[in-house]
Amino acid sequence: MEFSLVVEPASTWAADVVIFFAFKDSEEYLPGFSSWMASEADWVSASRGLRDFNGELGSVAVIYGSSASSVQRVMIAGLGPQESFGVEQFNHAVAAAFRKCRESKLRIVGLPLCALEGLQVDEALTNAVISAVDGLYSYDEFKTEDSGEGKLPEIVHILAEEEPQEYISEAIARGQAVGEGLAYARDLVNAPPNIANPVYVADEAKKMAKKYGFKFKAMKRKEIIDKGMGAYASVFRGSTDEPRLVTLEYAPKDRENDRPLVLVGKGVTFDTGGISLKPSSAMDFMKCDMAGAASIMGFFRAIGELAPDLHVVGIIPLADNMPDASATRPGEVVTSLSGKSIEILNTDAEGRLLLCDSLAYSDEFQPAAIIDLATLTGGCIVAFGWKVAAEMDNHNALGTMVRECGMRVGERYWPMPLWDIYKEELKSNVADIKNIGSREGMTIHAGMFLKEFVPENTPWVHLDIAGPAWAKTKSAVSEAGGTGFGVKTLVELAYTIDLEDL
Ligand code: BES
Ligand code: MN
Ligand code: ZN
Repeated sequence: MEFSLVVEPASTWAADVVIFFAFKDSEEYLPGFSSWMASEADWVSASRGLRDFNGELGSVAVIYGSSASSVQRVMIAGLGPQESFGVEQFNHAVAAAFRKCRESKLRIVGLPLCALEGLQVDEALTNAVISAVDGLYSYDEFKTEDSGEGKLPEIVHILAEEEPQEYISEAIARGQAVGEGLAYARDLVNAPPNIANPVYVADEAKKMAKKYGFKFKAMKRKEIIDKGMGAYASVFRGSTDEPRLVTLEYAPKDRENDRPLVLVGKGVTFDTGGISLKPSSAMDFMKCDMAGAASIMGFFRAIGELAPDLHVVGIIPLADNMPDASATRPGEVVTSLSGKSIEILNTDAEGRLLLCDSLAYSDEFQPAAIIDLATLTGGCIVAFGWKVAAEMDNHNALGTMVRECGMRVGERYWPMPLWDIYKEELKSNVADIKNIGSREGMTIHAGMFLKEFVPENTPWVHLDIAGPAWAKTKSAVSEAGGTGFGVKTLVELAYTIDLEDL
């Protein structure tokens, strides 16, 4: 599905369908829609179909033109009530409209700029493009039979009556890049664990680095061990899938010497729990345990296209957590890269083990700030449910900025505190620290654990995305499985953050 800006008078717009939006039970239609109907399409305003449509969120009405009209169909997508309208509702409406286009086999879709007038959504056009792509996403890699869902529209004309300002093309480009980044992240999460093992993900990163000119490095088993990353190494000891520690670096011209934003993503390509084996009901979807890594890959894919003015490093520790005769046993003590000894009392708390060494390793890049994304604790889902991520930090302003970026793009985060009273939980009898506290408060304990390994005086935010990284069931506008959660927030952040200002 391509997007292209088409500038021509409304009287000559040609498409299989043109999309507009409407609030629920509103007395008036949106201004651009009203004036378009008044000047170009009285057959729409006169139609029974329009009068019957009530604008329920996610509902869609199709009004048919006569054979004489160049626009053959008009689709009205319901936005729900104006009082509860926001970016999430907008994204939902757009996705519903595009899914309807696919279902009805409409090949040429028109989205008029005037349809977005009067919507109180920041960057409505960018969000529309993202949600069109994201709403039509499906993972068909291993389907040998046609899903019957129909082909995607070929082209989306963004319709403008007059030559629009430069930012309109930029908004479209940004939407496409983010949409593709999201799809890439979702593909990586959905890819089964026998395919998307650490070496596969590292190879993907390498391909991407080549395409976009990123610096790329992948450390192998021996290098990781020799480097002194004993905590990370304890995770993959039982696995025959080779680990990789990937770093990706994007440095635009004249930014090479800036201290970078460092992103760290948990990349456990499958989490059985190790010797502290998970029950099978909690294990089946643990291919999603590399979703943090996937979001960073999706983000890099997007910035490869967009080239923002920001120095960014991605650190992606990849490993497979398996039980085996050589696997780490509960009670073992390992030495982390930071020098701190860790007593591993539960091998299922493996994410923090590979992350703690990655955080310590990030010091080599002299980060201006660090953000990590991880499907770290089931406790986060208990606390916030499936759709909300937890945010923890050592720097209030950065944490707030990340949450606000998320809210602007329709990804929700809520803070949890990292108070010193929680330190007690991680005291070990034999080592400097242990890798679990009590069950109660586990999401915070995991954050407290990571905090110990953050390079000194470095602003840091930890995002536990255990819930929203994965959709257990499909919804009206999205398939089940990986969601790519985090990609949109990170891109928004890349355009918001001023690293010198922290
Ligand atoms: N990958 C899991 C967390 C998880 C659970 C992610 C459900 C997504 C959905 C993580 O490695 C884990 O097993 N955490 C343990 C921590 C505990 C042993 C302290 C958990 O959540 O039970
Ligand atoms: Mn685990
Ligand atoms: Zn895990």
